[in-house]
Amino acid sequence: MPVTWNKSDWRNKPRIQMPEYTDPAALKRVEDKLATYPPLVFAGEARRLTRQLGEVAEGRAFLLQGGDCAESFEEFNADLIRDTFKVMLQMAVVLTFGAKKPVVKIGRMAGQFAKPRSADTETVDGVELPSYRGDIINGFDFTPEARIPDPARMLEAYTQSAASLNLLRAFSQGGFADIKRIHQWTLESTKDTEGYEEYHELANRIAESLSFIESAGAGDAENMKRVSFYTSHEALLLEYEEAMCRVDSTTDLPVAGTGHMLWIGDRTRQLDGAHVEFCRGVQNPIGMKCGPSIEPDDLLRLIDRINPDNIPGRMTLIARFGQGNVDKHLPALIRAVEREGKKVVWSCDPMHGNTIKSNSGYKTRPFERVLGEVREFFAVHQAEGTYAGGVHFEMTGKDVTECTGGTRSVGDGDLSNRYHTACDPRLNATQSLELAFLVAKELQERDDA
Ligand code: PEP
Ligand code: CO
Repeated sequence: MPVTWNKSDWRNKPRIQMPEYTDPAALKRVEDKLATYPPLVFAGEARRLTRQLGEVAEGRAFLLQGGDCAESFEEFNADLIRDTFKVMLQMAVVLTFGAKKPVVKIGRMAGQFAKPRSADTETVDGVELPSYRGDIINGFDFTPEARIPDPARMLEAYTQSAASLNLLRAFSQGGFADIKRIHQWTLESTKDTEGYEEYHELANRIAESLSFIESAGAGDAENMKRVSFYTSHEALLLEYEEAMCRVDSTTDLPVAGTGHMLWIGDRTRQLDGAHVEFCRGVQNPIGMKCGPSIEPDDLLRLIDRINPDNIPGRMTLIARFGQGNVDKHLPALIRAVEREGKKVVWSCDPMHGNTIKSNSGYKTRPFERVLGEVREFFAVHQAEGTYAGGVHFEMTGKDVTECTGGTRSVGDGDLSNRYHTACDPRLNATQSLELAFLVAKELQERDDA
């Protein structure tokens, strides 16, 4: 970690994609309050995640990161958290089978509230208002009042994150995630749907193997009852991140208290910008989105700034180029990283480069394109002789119709049925699991190659 770093230094750097609060006194009150609150995560957990991601960087584990594009205050409830968690468990089982390696599980959950936007304003029926920037900043409703940034929203985001994380900890440690309950992870909404036969077959095979292992007295039964599940979000709203930054008493190093892993978005990864400045100083593992505009030299400078000691697991590069574009950008980045001997996790976000406007007017993502980008990502790594380490999805356990395609095909005309996202379109449970099986096949083929 840098010796000379202060959690407020980002304030001297160009600030973009963050709100201008109109009432500085109100903002200060919130920041002071947050600064006294307990952190949501602890440094030891962040370090453990760095170590596990280090295993991914070295090719000995695989990363699954997923969850909402934006969590919402309104949609906050236990069933939704449970269902998204269940789908992640299902996907992880499928991927473990394909990769024959441990799968590191990280939710875009318990803190994913702040959104960068392409445009500062939004116009509907001739009315122009500031864009929605996520529930931690302003409101989704298309009214002038809702769109005013309100610092008090940070307190609500903290409370909701704490409750979500509490539930996730209980689910992962308290018996819910016991592999023996694998059949119970299926959602009501997907139980008998097409595409789930494969999951049930796999679950049956796993259950059989488990009972064999158990009767043979082998295996660590206690260990199988729990999973490690981590949280992550885009570190966009730096007033919030700074107020929640703590010094870890065992190492005297700063740690972000808002989530286990933070990532820097594709729009805010300027070398001398505020976001890189903040993230470089905290010991949590850091993700960075890499879109079509990143050049190999920029990437190397960013890696040096964020991970000067070249610690494996400290940095995850999340490629998001869009189907058909991976070949154009990724090989040069990989070669630069390899040439300089940088230890990174390469993950694939096939969502953000594949967003289109459907004929019916909804923002959507065709399943075939999402899958196509994953395939291209694997093929490039195969050709370069490097390790495709993980995937990053926007998904939910809710039975939404936001992305088109998949076996239980969602058509253009179906999008309006259950389009609930506060921001980008998410894969529903069936689509997520289907994708996990397809990724698992890629992983198997990689091993057989
Ligand atoms: C996101 O992950 O929701 C996001 C905005 O991604 P990106 O920064 O890659 O556009
Ligand atoms: Co998104």
